[in-house]
Amino acid sequence: MLEKIKESAQFLIDQLHIFPKIGIVLGSGLGGLVDHLEVIKEIPYSEIPNFPVSTVKGHRGSLVFGKMNQTDVVVMSGRFHYYEGYTMKEVTFPFHVLKEIGIEKLILSNAAGGMNPTFKVGDIMVIRDHINMMGNNPLLGPNDDRLGARFQEMSEAYSKKWIKLAHQTAHNLNIHLQEGVYVGVSGPCFETPAEYKAFHILGGDAVGMSTVPETIVARYRGMEVFALSVITDLGVVGVVEKVSHEEVLKAANEAGPKMVRLVYEMLPQL
Ligand code: HPA
Repeated sequence: MLEKIKESAQFLIDQLHIFPKIGIVLGSGLGGLVDHLEVIKEIPYSEIPNFPVSTVKGHRGSLVFGKMNQTDVVVMSGRFHYYEGYTMKEVTFPFHVLKEIGIEKLILSNAAGGMNPTFKVGDIMVIRDHINMMGNNPLLGPNDDRLGARFQEMSEAYSKKWIKLAHQTAHNLNIHLQEGVYVGVSGPCFETPAEYKAFHILGGDAVGMSTVPETIVARYRGMEVFALSVITDLGVVGVVEKVSHEEVLKAANEAGPKMVRLVYEMLPQL
């Protein structure tokens, strides 16, 4: 795998003039962040050797290098989901490549269903920790010690320093910021009322179908992680409503600008 990672990284390095230390993954409906990016170079996933190609509506599928608020960043516009049928290794391959081109800090965003009864649709939640309910793990299988540890420790998967900074920044911007535990599921079904209830009893505040594999590999490769969820629907006992992908995208698009402002303001301080 290291040879493949190096091949993909070299392909990018050969055409880059900037080498950002921060990577940002845009989740459902949060493509608006790209509008605030002074684009220097956009490279479609389809051109990058060994990269999977994204299939979901609303996910663009390219690496966009540029400057945002005086900070060099690379934005992953479009991610790979386990529910699309990719293996965990495919879902997380791009993060190995990001590490290889010099990324040290990763910002992840996603849409999630809220299970904490104090949450409302449109809220932003900073992820404090996660529970992996995907039934799989990207680090399963033989370990290449050149990449990371056989038994990855996960005591601070999400940087406490960044969570604190997020709260300070949100306060200054007058953005109401929730904090909680993200439960990662495979999908593609949304949860039954019993599942939402069970995940909440387990300690989850929001549930979604991404982020967990990416965080695991980012930690494995020594990157710091910061992640935000936009709450697009509620799976709160008594208020579980029928939810569709369209509604999730709509809610994410509406709350998007809030999340964009928060990330934008945080960038120069990271
Ligand atoms: N469940 C799982 N994934 C999701 C949800 C949800 O309710 N909302 C957005 N992504």
